[in-house]
Amino acid sequence: MNYSRKKSQPIFDRALDVLEKGVSSNFRYLGDKETPVIARGKGARIWDADDNEFIDYRLGWGPINLGHADDRVNQAVTEAIQDGITFAATTPLEVDVAELIKKMVPDMEKLRFTNTGTEATMHALRTARGFTNKEKFIKFEGQYHGAHDYVLFSTASSSIGGMGSRRSPIPVQVGSGIPDKIRDYVYCLPFNDFDAVERCVKDHHNEIATIMVEPCLGNIAGIEPQDGFLAHLRKLCDDYNMVLIFDEVKTGFRLSNGGARDTYGVIPHISTYAKSLGNGFPVAAFGGSADVMSVIGGGSVTHAGTFGANAVSMAAAKAVLTILDETPVLEKLAERGKRLKNGLDKVLTEAGLPHQMSGHPNLQGFLITEKEVKEVRDLVHHDDDMYEAICINMYNRGVWMEDDAREPWFICEAHTEEIIDETLNKFEESVKEAIA
Ligand SMILES: Cc1ncc(COP(=O)(O)O)c(C=O)c1O
Repeated sequence: MNYSRKKSQPIFDRALDVLEKGVSSNFRYLGDKETPVIARGKGARIWDADDNEFIDYRLGWGPINLGHADDRVNQAVTEAIQDGITFAATTPLEVDVAELIKKMVPDMEKLRFTNTGTEATMHALRTARGFTNKEKFIKFEGQYHGAHDYVLFSTASSSIGGMGSRRSPIPVQVGSGIPDKIRDYVYCLPFNDFDAVERCVKDHHNEIATIMVEPCLGNIAGIEPQDGFLAHLRKLCDDYNMVLIFDEVKTGFRLSNGGARDTYGVIPHISTYAKSLGNGFPVAAFGGSADVMSVIGGGSVTHAGTFGANAVSMAAAKAVLTILDETPVLEKLAERGKRLKNGLDKVLTEAGLPHQMSGHPNLQGFLITEKEVKEVRDLVHHDDDMYEAICINMYNRGVWMEDDAREPWFICEAHTEEIIDETLNKFEESVKEAIA
């Protein structure tokens, strides 16, 4: 890397002394001498502890849809916390936010708040089990639903080689520390494979409570569902007494105000939300059909949390949702996202690099492979080294994208056309340097 770490390195050395691997989430660790230390962000830009400036396309792995340190959201949170934060009781703010979500998300009837995406998917899974009185579930290979035990199988970081054949996929456990028996509760299937899901459901529906799906592969370059795939899942759930859960932690309040339900025109029984709901403040929710949600409480399904719907999260969510509701932020993002996507495509084509553009403009990626990519198994043909080389060249030019093609590029309201054009110029130089 070209950058000075004169101030960053001593801070990271201190971090290594007190935080395991120097980070607070495994995926943040990039090496003892390489892990960035970020001091601040504003709009579409961030600065490290040495004051090196970057255009940010990681956006904290997705939550920032308005821009870092958005003044409107910060102001709302600052005002709200003057009245106290946590009361172990319902608050007016919480009702306001729930009403806004209900207004913006098609067929949202009842919901509950949590603080992270992991909690939201964990509670949604339990709710589906409580509703159907069945225990197993289907998830799709390459999808990440958070860090609780039940869902840590065949995620974006799993080895594709370990997944077995498409006909009889093997759930690949992510890391140790998960009881072996948990594997018996999950079927991991290839995304976009209509027949594989149908076969599994027909054979095992008596024990399957739910199909949990990221409507597009938010952890695999945003790969989108093929026409009819999500509707196929909904029909199977209706026919076989299963709950369809959309994990909208990445797509919610990012693809469109109504999220993937609206964008892809399929309504699940339950959706989970987090990231873009708070523009970086920790807030999450799950909800959907009143019938399914009614099993929560009253001595049935447990949902609890000391910090659920605290004033910090609710004030942030209210500000974000009001902005999205009153101004066409996500439409604007889609226009700029297309500009970025077309520009990246043009540069890669002109450089003669075989590639696939993927994802929705608001959550997109590109993959360096000739083969059409419909699901994670298709990444065995991906040129990881070339992608990483381009990423390092971009970083050295002040543009921060994830060095792993599976994590999408995110844009926010603060990515102006000028910033996108600046990015594309740097991308052209970076690609030329990588293939030279
Ligand atoms: C689709 C999806 N679901 C759930 C999660 C977990 O969310 P959190 O990191 O807030 O626990 C993530 C995190 O990246 C995600 O991408």
